[in-house]
Amino acid sequence: MSNCISSVLFICLGNICRSPLAEGVFRNEAKKRGLEDRLIIDSAGTGGWHVGNPPDRRSIQTAANHGIDINDQSCRRLATSDFHQFNLILGMDHSNIIDARSANDESGPAQILLFTQFAGTGENLEIPDPYYGGPEGFENAYRMIKLASIGTLDRLFAPQG
Ligand code: 4NP
Repeated sequence: MSNCISSVLFICLGNICRSPLAEGVFRNEAKKRGLEDRLIIDSAGTGGWHVGNPPDRRSIQTAANHGIDINDQSCRRLATSDFHQFNLILGMDHSNIIDARSANDESGPAQILLFTQFAGTGENLEIPDPYYGGPEGFENAYRMIKLASIGTLDRLFAPQG
């Protein structure tokens, strides 16, 4: 897979807290490795309450604390076409996976998997929804997302043996 373009869509419930952070952090890690041109990276929500809005200000602040700008993102809802256009759809928790699989009513070929599991940073490990908590939940999400982003890039671009 190392010379191909991979397309990765991060999903969560609202597309304002975790998945925008994942999009920004993963893009930043890809950039550090010079891999940005070989990836199509996006994020979406399984729910549609915040469509058109920027990320939650706490996600924007957490990303900024780590030198990452996610201000220009805009919330969108997961669409049927995503299951045809993306190789990988990575969810933050199990309910994201269940919701996305049931929305894939045209049986598009995208692999729909738990982010941490694909990354090898935790079997069945969910990235908890920080929406109703304090800033520490966002920092925790950032840390888990950063580790999982590194693991995902290692896996997608592992040297061919
Ligand atoms: P996210 O967090 O799924 O990480 O974007 C949430 C954001 C908003 C809501 C739920 C979760 N909400 O119910 O509005």
